[in-house]
Amino acid sequence: MDILHVSAECYPVAKAGGLGDVVGALPKYMNQLGHTAKVVMPMYRTKFLYANEWAVVHKSTTNMGNWWFEFTIIKEKTDKLGFELYLVDVNGLLDREKVYGYSDDNERFTAFQICVLDWLSSWAKKPDIIHVHDHHTGLIPFMVKHCLRYRGLSHVKTVLTIHNAQYQGWMGWNRSILIPQWDMWKWGMLDWNNTINPLASAIKCADRVTTVSPSYLDELRWMSNGLEPLFEYEKGKCVGILNGIDDHVWDPNKDEYLQHHYSIGELEAGKAKNKMLLCDQFNLDFDKPLIGFIGRLVGEKGADLLPQVISDSFYFIGRRMNFLVLGSGFPEVEAGLSALKPLSQYDYNVFIGYNEGLSHTMYAGLDFLLMPSRVEPCGLNQMYSMRYGTVPMVRRTGGLKDTVVDFGDVNGYGICYNHTSIPDVTHAVWRAAELYHNKEKLHHIRQHMMKLDFSWETSVKHYIDVYSALVV
Ligand code: ADP
Ligand code: GLC
Repeated sequence: MDILHVSAECYPVAKAGGLGDVVGALPKYMNQLGHTAKVVMPMYRTKFLYANEWAVVHKSTTNMGNWWFEFTIIKEKTDKLGFELYLVDVNGLLDREKVYGYSDDNERFTAFQICVLDWLSSWAKKPDIIHVHDHHTGLIPFMVKHCLRYRGLSHVKTVLTIHNAQYQGWMGWNRSILIPQWDMWKWGMLDWNNTINPLASAIKCADRVTTVSPSYLDELRWMSNGLEPLFEYEKGKCVGILNGIDDHVWDPNKDEYLQHHYSIGELEAGKAKNKMLLCDQFNLDFDKPLIGFIGRLVGEKGADLLPQVISDSFYFIGRRMNFLVLGSGFPEVEAGLSALKPLSQYDYNVFIGYNEGLSHTMYAGLDFLLMPSRVEPCGLNQMYSMRYGTVPMVRRTGGLKDTVVDFGDVNGYGICYNHTSIPDVTHAVWRAAELYHNKEKLHHIRQHMMKLDFSWETSVKHYIDVYSALVV
């Protein structure tokens, strides 16, 4: 089968979060099964762009409303990522430093989608499936079905994967002129509550919809930032497929970011060396359990609770553990975490910013990884941490619920709690501190986690089943 993934992110080209990791891995594993999966994304100004060689494969002029512009599609020459990678270059619009966060993001991603479909229209043999990811590419299913310009693509099936339904790409109806001439009777297919809602539109128009874990799909029916009735109505075409992790990139024995590699046989020594590195770099106490947080410092991740949880833990449980936080996000959370630094007694530190290398060392060197998420469609961090023998401390929600079993339950290995609340999270910290001193149990749990299979091989087959049901 021929599949084209259209996405705003793809690791290692550009990554802002888990979406990048997934789109950087899923196509590779599809190709390993004998399919042809390719990726197209915007051309940002990234290190990857300048470090690799590119061939121009398409050049054309198009329009978005009254604005005419040129675009170029370039292809990475060696296919070294395990799939063909194409970038869309629109001068001044897409070629920015960051993936998101500009006031014209709606125009940028609409232009990107128009370029992709213009380019696809020129292909002699169309793909069987256009697979779009999140709202940034959510107008494609509508345009394929209802734009006159793309009549030649109307037989191509579209699949939407929802990585995060909190963000929907809303835009006012005055922006409808950006979309190439479309059948006005179909305006309802773009609309949700009197705005153009690209995510809602994709849910309505795509042939199938997947979410990145089964539990998240259940939750969306009662908690999806306004789309609850839509998920209820469209449930027949939705399916939850748990993400995998790229276990070639995320392998403690080969990880290119780790100074000290280890496998399951020498896990204690390997983890200790990585922990030592972190303790040296961040002035922490090697003898105490090291609890970390890695991620966006936003409400969804429960990051706003961290300053209080950390100070309450020290106050109520005693200075029996270290905390290390890596992340960036809401300024008030960043400030709250930075304000704790002067109070540290060699047991707390924070790195504000994005640092891929440090995140890998943390997955290896931490004893516990805290994830008090309010919403977690899948979550990759807990799977990475388990692969590196680090115990996840998760709130039972979405993909966290689907991947972590509490160590108090049969065959369990993680620390789970029900609420993103200060008492629940602080209680989890206490359980971690206790577990740390039961060395035998901890060792057994670490071994157990490192053997768990979260590889893409299983999940990819579910996607292929979804495609196969559409392409008969
Ligand atoms: P989300 O996509 O919602 O942010 P995921 O758990 O799916 O959450 O994926 C987050 C990914 O981003 C992981 O690979 C994690 O290691 C990485 N990450 C998040 N914040 C940072 C950071 N500040 N520095 C390095 N990596 C980060
Ligand atoms: C989103 C979700 C996260 C998920 C990731 C990859 O960013 O917030 O839970 O793991 O996408 O699917």
